[in-house]
Amino acid sequence: MLQALQQLPPDPILGLSAACRADPNPHKVDLTIGIYMDEQGLCPVFDAVQIAQRALIEEETSKAYLAAAGDESFNTGLQRLVLGADSAALLEGRVTSIQTPGGCGALRIGAEIVHAAAPNAKVWVSDPTWPVHIPLLGSVGLEFHSYRYYDAASHGVNFDGMVEDLKNAVAGDVVLLHGCCHNPCGADLTLAQWEVIAELAEKQGFTPFIDFAYQGLGDGLEEDAAGLRLLVSRLPEVIVAASCSKNLGLYRERVGAAIFVCNDAASARAILSQAQSAARRVYSMPPAHGALLAGRVLSDDRLGGIWRTELVAMCQRINGLRSELRAALEARCGGDYAFIEREKGMFSFLGLSAAQAVRLREEHSVYMLDSSRINVAGVNAGNIDYIAESVAKVL
Ligand code: LMR
Repeated sequence: MLQALQQLPPDPILGLSAACRADPNPHKVDLTIGIYMDEQGLCPVFDAVQIAQRALIEEETSKAYLAAAGDESFNTGLQRLVLGADSAALLEGRVTSIQTPGGCGALRIGAEIVHAAAPNAKVWVSDPTWPVHIPLLGSVGLEFHSYRYYDAASHGVNFDGMVEDLKNAVAGDVVLLHGCCHNPCGADLTLAQWEVIAELAEKQGFTPFIDFAYQGLGDGLEEDAAGLRLLVSRLPEVIVAASCSKNLGLYRERVGAAIFVCNDAASARAILSQAQSAARRVYSMPPAHGALLAGRVLSDDRLGGIWRTELVAMCQRINGLRSELRAALEARCGGDYAFIEREKGMFSFLGLSAAQAVRLREEHSVYMLDSSRINVAGVNAGNIDYIAESVAKVL
């Protein structure tokens, strides 16, 4: 039976990151996977998380399963972080959430709920979108349509195209939006554009499903949530897949939540029972360690303060790297790279062809996705000139 299966090609992101790890070139640069790296090229543990972890290990008395919905202080803390503590939907008791294994688990549980509610729902995804969105949501049996999003010529959002396409999304459909720091292009909607999306959702009746994996890495925790909160303030139903991989650095601990803003409290209770049942079918119970750490950081003023300061420094460093990379590329390659400075979060497309991206890794050991998506947080003072020189050589 097993023999019937063929070997698959490597994952487009994880495969390249593994290839970089295996490359013996001492000048190699890994700009593939979306992991924050410091000046030394290390993915650090937040001090606030370290403090929480020491306390947790000291105080933990059991490794029994968590409740099916996960840790309560984590769920409450994350709902407040994402929606805002003063969110009317929260105060009205029409929000529910379930702790999931990372943002991917949240996307999957969200997809399960969409499929249960509307098996023929179409999911509208941005062109381009994170390559894992389609297999992840598609494995539930949902169907996809894409809407125009990134305009390579202007290195910005093709908003007219997006609106035009979303006029075809109807009640019973879901529109997958990137809450901030669009993955892969880094081009985000302005608040005025989020307004237009809210109006469109009201008029057409589709449900927004927001992938929110980078809160705090664009302009700040509150700023990055502004578009999402606007939709929540205007619409009866919104689904959010939130992740603490990046903003709490808890990547390998798999910490996330599927948050459902529902029409009323009774619907929120029903959705929680559905989400618990979906989780039970897919992975049974959520992992504890990372969520217990996040729950402590999010519910403790002192730890929360330390974490927010660290996150601001991380965000400022990424934005600083964006300016430095723009300058280095303009100096070495000519041309206009101002878009790198305008874009948000970890990712930008360099605007290279797939053949150029392949040459960069084969001839210079500079690894990026074939789409020329780079992880800006992989740039540092020690590799920035080498990156810019190598790009100039393949142009
Ligand atoms: C990425 O896009 O590189 C990250 O979200 C990590 C992943 O799982 O692909």
